[in-house]
Amino acid sequence: SSVVIAIDGPSGSGKSSVSKAVAARLGLAYLDTGAMYRAATVWSMETADLDDAASVTTAVRAMPLVMGLDPAAPGVELDGRDVAVTIRTTEVTTNVSKVASNLDVRAELKRLQRAIIEQESTAAQAAQSGGRGIVAEGRDITTVVAPDADVRVLLTASEEARLRRRSLEVHGAADASAVEATKDQVLRRDQDDAKVTQFQVAADGVVTVDSSDLDFEQTVDAVLAVVAQ
Ligand code: CDP
Repeated sequence: SSVVIAIDGPSGSGKSSVSKAVAARLGLAYLDTGAMYRAATVWSMETADLDDAASVTTAVRAMPLVMGLDPAAPGVELDGRDVAVTIRTTEVTTNVSKVASNLDVRAELKRLQRAIIEQESTAAQAAQSGGRGIVAEGRDITTVVAPDADVRVLLTASEEARLRRRSLEVHGAADASAVEATKDQVLRRDQDDAKVTQFQVAADGVVTVDSSDLDFEQTVDAVLAVVAQ
């Protein structure tokens, strides 16, 4: 039998690295839905007008996206190009909430995400690839994309912890000026994202794991403990 694990959380909560580690530990596939919104942003910047919602919707519906599901090397391909680095640039991070607030874009990506989760959790696929399910992470997986997942976790952390982590990731430092430079990418984006997705308070039946005072391994263990319940 296969398992679907849904993990949501804000920017800097550690959800991507923790979700990858949980998938690797359990031998599951891994889906980074934020990478899909980032790829949709890259594609829209290249082929549409970001300020014209209809043109963005048309572009995303025709987006030639291939998601790699290996937690050890989760690739993102657009039209055959590896865009794993491009989707993390500051320019893309700055624009992604605008694309993600387009409800037609959300409907299209939800459809793609459900198809991937379905494919990785059906018996036929499990038998073929040895896969035993999937960990999917993002902002609305526990509530909208996979509300009936076997395990649903909201990974949170204090604002201070999240700013410090993201600052270390992006600038390699967490001094006052590096943290300041990260605020747009974390706090402003959280505010914009919160208008369309619920990731700040756990929905009914979703287990909260607060990583503020946990290191990486402790956070992975805390999520694995929820899975084992
Ligand atoms: O890594 P970080 O948490 O900062 O962001 P991400 O997971 O890469 O997601 C990038 C952006 O995609 C978010 O800021 C949201 O605007 C959007 N997103 C979303 O709307 N719904 C999801 N399920 C995942 C991401």
